[in-house]
Amino acid sequence: MSILKTLQEPNPILRETAEPVKPENGSFLHLKNLCTDMRQTMKVLNGIGIAASQVGESKRIFLVDKQSFLDIDLPSDIFINPKLIKKSFKRVVGEEGCLSVRGIFGTVKRALAVTVEAYDLNNKKFRLSGKGLLARVLQHETDHLEGKLFIDRADPDSLHVYIKEENDE
Ligand code: NI
Repeated sequence: MSILKTLQEPNPILRETAEPVKPENGSFLHLKNLCTDMRQTMKVLNGIGIAASQVGESKRIFLVDKQSFLDIDLPSDIFINPKLIKKSFKRVVGEEGCLSVRGIFGTVKRALAVTVEAYDLNNKKFRLSGKGLLARVLQHETDHLEGKLFIDRADPDSLHVYIKEENDE
């Protein structure tokens, strides 16, 4: 297991449209190790989601932090080739940050609820519906796969710098 380097805006890899994962291409072991390292990296950096492009792999994979959603029975924390198949009309504003835009936060209007279809590490298809914070994370991470960052969608007046002080929790 290792902690991976997270690319920072304006790294061009963050702006690429990520490639679909094809099970017949590349090794399963590489995919498994990549996901393990991404999970570890997300935890160390206190992220609630991470996309493969953020660690330099332009692939359609993201992970969601299970610990942040203990009340939800996530079928998998690994989302391979995910697709947003449903989005509520109702949208809500909420604050976001990103491991690739370190120290910047801002508010983004997103669908209140979404349904995602994806594959887990065993290539089993699953469907997950979420609302609130989970829906927000699923949309934020799906955006990464299209080379979009939350700062593109954020209300420009809301963007602000927050540097964590040593005496913060
Ligand atoms: Ni992000």
